Amino acid sequence: MLFAIKVLFLRTYMLIFKGVTAILPFKWPETFDGAGSSLELCRHIAAQGHKKVLLVTDEMLAKLGLLDGMQAELAQQGVEVLLYSGVQPDPTIAQIEAGVTMLKENGCQAILAVGGGSSIDAAKVIAARGKSDKPIQKMTGLFKVTLGFKGVVPLYAVPTTAGTGSEVTIAAVVSDTEAQRKLPMMDLKLMPVAVALDGALMTGLPAHITAATGMDALTHAVEAYISRNAMKKTDVQAIEATQLIMQNLETAVSDGSNVAARDAMTKASNLAGRAFTQAGVGYVHAIAHNFGALYHTPHGLANAIVMPYVLDYSKPNCAGRLADLARACNIGPAAGSDEQLADAFIAEIRAMKAKFDIPEKLAALQQSDIPKIATAALQEARFTYAVPKYMDKATCERVVGQMLAA
Ligand SMILES: NC(=O)c1ccc[n+]([C@@H]2O[C@H](COP(=O)([O-])OP(=O)(O)OC[C@H]3O[C@@H](n4cnc5c(N)ncnc54)[C@H](O)[C@@H]3O)[C@@H](O)[C@H]2O)c1
Ligand SMILES: [Fe+2]
Repeated sequence: MLFAIKVLFLRTYMLIFKGVTAILPFKWPETFDGAGSSLELCRHIAAQGHKKVLLVTDEMLAKLGLLDGMQAELAQQGVEVLLYSGVQPDPTIAQIEAGVTMLKENGCQAILAVGGGSSIDAAKVIAARGKSDKPIQKMTGLFKVTLGFKGVVPLYAVPTTAGTGSEVTIAAVVSDTEAQRKLPMMDLKLMPVAVALDGALMTGLPAHITAATGMDALTHAVEAYISRNAMKKTDVQAIEATQLIMQNLETAVSDGSNVAARDAMTKASNLAGRAFTQAGVGYVHAIAHNFGALYHTPHGLANAIVMPYVLDYSKPNCAGRLADLARACNIGPAAGSDEQLADAFIAEIRAMKAKFDIPEKLAALQQSDIPKIATAALQEARFTYAVPKYMDKATCERVVGQMLAA
């Protein structure tokens, strides 16, 4: 009874949240796409009059030479580039603060983020901290960056994974190593002003990272589509993203140099990012964030492990929505019932995982951690995600427990 009242309260709260999201003034980034678009973005940055730019990235991308073309183009355009390559997967507060110091000491006027979600998220927070003395912990949560009206340093982004969709979301995720927590930050100000979707930059992305990041994009599309806060517009985006992923992820994994598949995945990840920016994600992300914080499980891999279990649990309340996705992707029997098609869609996700060598269980998961994972996941979801079927703590513990290795 008490749980039923709680659910009713949360549903009402999320309905208001949906109304607010529908009228929020999102400023979607100007988007350059296709071959050479990352260089086009560099010319655009110069045309904005920026003379000094902080390039935020990770060491690996610098070593691979992926930045060379963009650095040369910016130099050619008379823009001085300062390289900050100290970002690591799941960026920490310390890594971000080091970037803030470099930005301020050198008087950079704009930031160019090149990399996966880790580099783009770190750059978003550097952009916010660049104009504010507020500690990062106080910026986490909803709309805490804007308070104070100081704005952010202009941010440009080039994703090199497909992926988080971070180039088109208002979110950034920061790892608080002391508290062993991932701190999500959401604010309209975190949206980049312009981005380039250049799949050719991803041809060297290793197969296992391609698979995991692709499953992250799929999770965004699916969670946005089954969210109670989904709208017509996010439905169109989520369906197209799911179709593109089902048609191209396997090729991108098995034949990394296939630029057409890379471009399609970049587009899918961007569409899924747009969809979840307004419709939200759900329990898959809420649980996966905790696997990342406790065991450093890469974000996409964690989502891929969690997704089928949460979909099995949620299915009674979203079979029709999962069936829509199955029909859009020609998965399951054409004349099947919603229930059959929803099952076929979840089975397809399990089959993809098997093809990509993604395990069903999380080897690092400890039974003794499950209560705290459930508490943190439910807390993250409570006032942020309009999930189709709510869990109480015991249920969440049971669902997470299904992922224990024998
Ligand atoms: N802001 C958002 O909306 C959002 C959404 C989902 C996840 N995230 C966050 O994003 C982070 C994960 O980002 P990610 O999955 O993109 O991975 P990542 O940025 O952590 O990169 C993973 C690895 O891939 C390498 N790499 C990246 N691009 C490459 C390329 N083109 N060629 C070769 N190697 C390359 C990196 O060097 C790194 O070692 C997590 O911190 C997660 O919490 C953010
Ligand atoms: Fe994600």
